[in-house]
Amino acid sequence: MADLEGHFDRTIARDQRIEPRDWMPDGYRATMVRQIAQHAHSEIIGMQPEGEWITRAPSLRRKAILLAKVQDEAGHGLYLYSAAETLGADRAELTDKLIEGRQKYSSIFNYPTLGYADVGVIGWLVDGAAICNQVPLCRSSYGPYARAMIRICKEESFHQRQGYELLLTMMKGTADQRAMVQDAVDRWWWPSLMMFGPPDDASPNTARSMAWKIKRHTNDELRQRFVDMTVPQAAVLGVTLPDPELRWNPERGHHDFGAIDWSELQRVISGDGPCNAERLARRRAAHEDGAWVREAAAAHARKAAARAAR
Ligand code: ACO
Repeated sequence: MADLEGHFDRTIARDQRIEPRDWMPDGYRATMVRQIAQHAHSEIIGMQPEGEWITRAPSLRRKAILLAKVQDEAGHGLYLYSAAETLGADRAELTDKLIEGRQKYSSIFNYPTLGYADVGVIGWLVDGAAICNQVPLCRSSYGPYARAMIRICKEESFHQRQGYELLLTMMKGTADQRAMVQDAVDRWWWPSLMMFGPPDDASPNTARSMAWKIKRHTNDELRQRFVDMTVPQAAVLGVTLPDPELRWNPERGHHDFGAIDWSELQRVISGDGPCNAERLARRRAAHEDGAWVREAAAAHARKAAARAAR
């Protein structure tokens, strides 16, 4: 046991990867299952806010892009559930935990999408924040998660660019279109900053996850990186970020920004955001409607196994 633990500690210290068959502390396994499951659930629930706009896309081109993006999110979810399975988690159980409200998913997907500019702003800000958070996770210590993150980040990068390009197009359009973009930015800015999680001094998991190299940066470090990255992009776009305290601080070499309303994040995480009930009801209904597919697949697998055994 001491030897196994020593091997685990040395693997982490050398910046190498923990693989499914390696010994790992129970706490490490539980933390990985928790984070990967929450991440997978976020991808699957994250299909909803934008999926609602597929039938109302303003052109064939926009529709093809949005369809591809939402399909990518389904793929990310499935990829991540597979990564959780390598730790012994049961996919059906994870889904049950999600639809029973026993496991979390990202707060950001509990906000409504009120217009097509929201599709662009989700790509720019939400997927931009996701990239900021997930690129360092390509170096996370658990092998299957880190490797899944490489492909996911490449696809997220396409998502971010399509969003920004959509917004650039709208900003070159009519005054009404520019106003739609600004309104969407005003609504999504603060929730995007909350995606990175509570501030470091109120984040119960960060210290442990950093020591295990599951997380490579703290929540506040990544939030700051996102703000610094986004401010010049907002200037090119010609939108105002809704924070009067946002300004460059030459001494810190970073942008200062206003206080985040942490009570809002707590409310949304605990189930009381604008769309929590709707998102979970829709996921539950999709799961129930899909029961026949699961039954048919299981029956097919049984028949195939019986044929192979003959
Ligand atoms: N939305 C919902 N729950 C959150 C959020 C959020 N924005 N931020 C933190 N939490 C939860 C944590 O999951 C944790 O829950 P739990 O301990 O009850 O399981 C609790 O709040 C306390 O937060 P932390 O101690 O900071 O948790 P952690 O160290 O796990 O950090 C973070 C949170 C940064 C989200 C981390 O889990 C992570 O990097 N996850 C992978 C990325 C991810 O899941 N992205 C999903 C959205 S992006 C997308 O799909 C486009």
